[in-house]
Amino acid sequence: MRTRGFARRDAARARLDELWRRGTTFLGSEFAIMGGAMTWVSERSLVAAISNGGGFGVIACGSMNREQLDAEIAATQARTRRPFGVNLITLHPDLAALSDVCIRRGVTHIVLAGAIPSTQAVRRIKDAGVKLLCFAPALAIAKKLVRMGADAIIVEGAEAGGHIGPVSTSVLTQEILPHLREVPVFVAGGIGRGDAILAYLEMGASGAQLGTRFVCALESIAHRRFKEAFIRAHARDAVASVQLDPRFPVIPVRAIRNAGTVRFLALQRAVIDRFLRGEIPQKDAQLEIEHFWAGALKRAVIDGDVETGSVMAGQSVGMVTREQSTREILGELVSQALSMIAARESAAPPRIAPVRAEG
Ligand SMILES: Cc1cc2nc3c(=O)[nH]c(=O)nc-3n(C[C@H](O)[C@H](O)[C@H](O)COP(=O)(O)O)c2cc1C
Repeated sequence: MRTRGFARRDAARARLDELWRRGTTFLGSEFAIMGGAMTWVSERSLVAAISNGGGFGVIACGSMNREQLDAEIAATQARTRRPFGVNLITLHPDLAALSDVCIRRGVTHIVLAGAIPSTQAVRRIKDAGVKLLCFAPALAIAKKLVRMGADAIIVEGAEAGGHIGPVSTSVLTQEILPHLREVPVFVAGGIGRGDAILAYLEMGASGAQLGTRFVCALESIAHRRFKEAFIRAHARDAVASVQLDPRFPVIPVRAIRNAGTVRFLALQRAVIDRFLRGEIPQKDAQLEIEHFWAGALKRAVIDGDVETGSVMAGQSVGMVTREQSTREILGELVSQALSMIAARESAAPPRIAPVRAEG
């Protein structure tokens, strides 16, 4: 019946709002869905579209300098009146000045990514009254970050696109969610559908962060070939970088397998052989390995070189099937969560109203 359907939908919406209220209150958004910062992808257009669509966009500062970040924030503010965040890499040599740019521009939320931030970096942001989100790869680190002053934690599992840790989202969330109630926790990595968001909310998360699902948004400036690679790929194509020798560490990155990943293995093999033959010192060999991917993400995202560039993508890439507007993506995620809640309600045995005594 139509009216019963509407009532069920309203009840589902009320339930979802209740489940992610801590997240929406913290972010100041309608949905507790963050668009994870993606270097070269998360710029003014996509970030504003996510925030205007009811989610929470995050600018990826990446290797931008102060002037570039300042211009990006201003341009985003010109496109949306809704809140958005800025993601800064802790290892950036100009971190303090970049934080100041955000503060001066009135950015409300900063995400610090990379290594554990220094006490000074945290203080600078907190003293300015900006909300701070940090990534935690383990419970002990999450607790430490909260003690240092983090206002929220992002738990990102190895299914994610880009730089990754070794532990899956499903295990990390079981490790962290039941034991971290002090601050809101946002779950990232491998989330492609709203029912998965719902599952993490029910486990105690306050919201979710998705990256891969937003790459093929109409508002995303990623090159047509970058988007096509996403649309073609299955979950198994998004692989973590392979390290051949424990003496030569490789930064773990998840990306779509291509000619570049094959060449990277060949390069490691060749460099290690030269090291073993005594032709180059270990330090130089390590540098050659590290330099292989320099500039490779920009080449893929902006220039469309999806053969030798780095096509960073998470395993949820299999759920990216076409270009869609950001609003449509967000609507789909919310609708999947609502359908799951509503389906459960309708499957539940009817509640029998208590019989009220007369008189
Ligand atoms: C192309 C790409 C670039 C990314 N760049 C960054 C970055 O600069 N900083 C960061 O903290 N995370 C970065 N990420 C991770 C995302 O912010 C997000 O946490 C992740 O994509 C969530 O997992 P999912 O890909 O499974 O949705 C990147 C991810 C992708 C796919």
